[in-house]
Amino acid sequence: TIRFMDSYNVKIIGVLSLNSQLFHIVINRCNNVKIEDARIIAPGDSPNTDGIHIQKSTDIEVRNASIKTGDDCISIGPGTKNLMVDGITCGPGHGISIGSLAKGLEEDGVENVTVKKAVFVRTDNGLRIKSWPRFSKGFVERVRFLGALMVNVSNPILIDQNYCPGDSYCPTEGSGIKINDVIYSGIMGTSAKKVAIKMDCSEQFPCTQIRMQAINLTYHGGAATTACINVSGKQLGLVIPSGCIR
Ligand SMILES: *[C@@H]1O[C@H](CO)[C@@H](O)[C@H](O)[C@H]1NC(C)=O
Ligand SMILES: *[C@@H]1O[C@H](CO)[C@@H](O)[C@H](O)[C@H]1NC(C)=O
Ligand SMILES: *[C@@H]1O[C@H](CO)[C@@H](O)[C@H](O)[C@H]1NC(C)=O
Ligand SMILES: *[C@@H]1O[C@H](CO)[C@@H](O)[C@H](O)[C@H]1NC(C)=O
Ligand SMILES: *[C@@H]1O[C@H](CO)[C@@H](O)[C@H](O)[C@H]1NC(C)=O
Repeated sequence: TIRFMDSYNVKIIGVLSLNSQLFHIVINRCNNVKIEDARIIAPGDSPNTDGIHIQKSTDIEVRNASIKTGDDCISIGPGTKNLMVDGITCGPGHGISIGSLAKGLEEDGVENVTVKKAVFVRTDNGLRIKSWPRFSKGFVERVRFLGALMVNVSNPILIDQNYCPGDSYCPTEGSGIKINDVIYSGIMGTSAKKVAIKMDCSEQFPCTQIRMQAINLTYHGGAATTACINVSGKQLGLVIPSGCIR
């Protein structure tokens, strides 16, 4: 619907984007952008209708957005630095995603991203980091997921370093994206699948300094589980389901 490239000092306030053909709002190679009170609407089965896509941009704020769409509510691409996402309601949609990354060898990193007070309603994912299983110079560093409510979300917390939708022509060398220093704090609600916390990290570049605290995710009122490989870090206090980080 609307795309900003090579722009700086931009404010986008109170925009409604309805049934975009592809991405609704794109921020590419920009600096100092504020998006407030956006409303984004497209059917849950409309392909590639990402709500807000950001890449190669610095000092970006997205506040108080309501996003119902057929792909990621917010997708955070390579070269995103100093991003604050505060007060987002997402669903239907594929959640808030960092990635997909490792599309190529030469890639900028994603650095200093905070996602605060997000609500996910029946989305495919909640808080996701995804990279293709191929070598890349990209990285993910200093991410804060602070306060999220999950309502029957299929993958509430997900790191997928073997991302390959469609499962055809998948690269197999393993992701070169190094994911370091990610905090998950105050994540509550329900998972639509038994595995509520999944981290499938790269064997060559394991996820490090992953910290979890104040997490309580249940599965239809019962116990949820974790499925994590090549992850290290620590958990503090209440973390349900437990066991992702040993
Ligand atoms: C949040 O955005 C909605 C529009 O989507 C607006 O009606 C509401 O006033 C905004 N709330 C705040 C606290 O800014
Ligand atoms: C990190 O990003 C936040 C905005 O979310 C910004 O206020 C802060 O200054 C950034 N930190 C650094 C070290 O650039
Ligand atoms: C949760 O979502 C799944 C589909 O993802 C659906 O089959 C199930 O009925 C939903 N459960 C609740 C309690 O809403
Ligand atoms: C976790 O959440 C469930 C469902 O909301 C609740 O019944 C349970 O008491 C919570 N557990 C803790 C330790 O807070
Ligand atoms: C990664 O996980 C695999 C499967 O659990 C394990 O065999 C391997 O030793 C791990 N690699 C590292 C570097 O921790």
